[in-house]
Amino acid sequence: MKIVVIQGPNLNMLGHREQHIYGPMKLEEIHEQMKHFATENNIEIEFFQSNLEGELVDRIQECMGDANGIIINPAAYSHTSIAIRDAIAAVELPVIEVHLTNIHAREEFRRHSMTAEVVASVIAGMGPFGYHLAMIGMTQILNEMAASQQTQA
Ligand code: DQA
Repeated sequence: MKIVVIQGPNLNMLGHREQHIYGPMKLEEIHEQMKHFATENNIEIEFFQSNLEGELVDRIQECMGDANGIIINPAAYSHTSIAIRDAIAAVELPVIEVHLTNIHAREEFRRHSMTAEVVASVIAGMGPFGYHLAMIGMTQILNEMAASQQTQA
């Protein structure tokens, strides 16, 4: 079972960036915790962060035929990127979208996520713990998919 974690623009700045909004935890620390969960549950995990829309599209496309699921925080591109939304729809993999903050309780322009319309689930407002919840959720989704494939075989 392989999960790819994709992080959008400015998330490399976590721990420095607007700490009153995003908290003190660095992206590497969040990834360490996810790696720990993955190791304990026998899951292969890869991480990717980019500030560039096209690189995020490329990384999503590369997951096709390689990964079983994607956990993504498209960050500001959630609100603007048809290209990322289309890439998610194209790969036909289970995708969980994570936002550290509750985007529905913030500025008007953050309240709509284009990508949310094509993902299995959205976790928002749980801070870094949202990524842990996403790992649990993705494990559940993939186990259910594997079980239904077995009954079909
Ligand atoms: C974010 C919310 C976005 O609106 C913002 O642009 C981000 C982070 C979050 O995790 O809460 O960069 O995706």
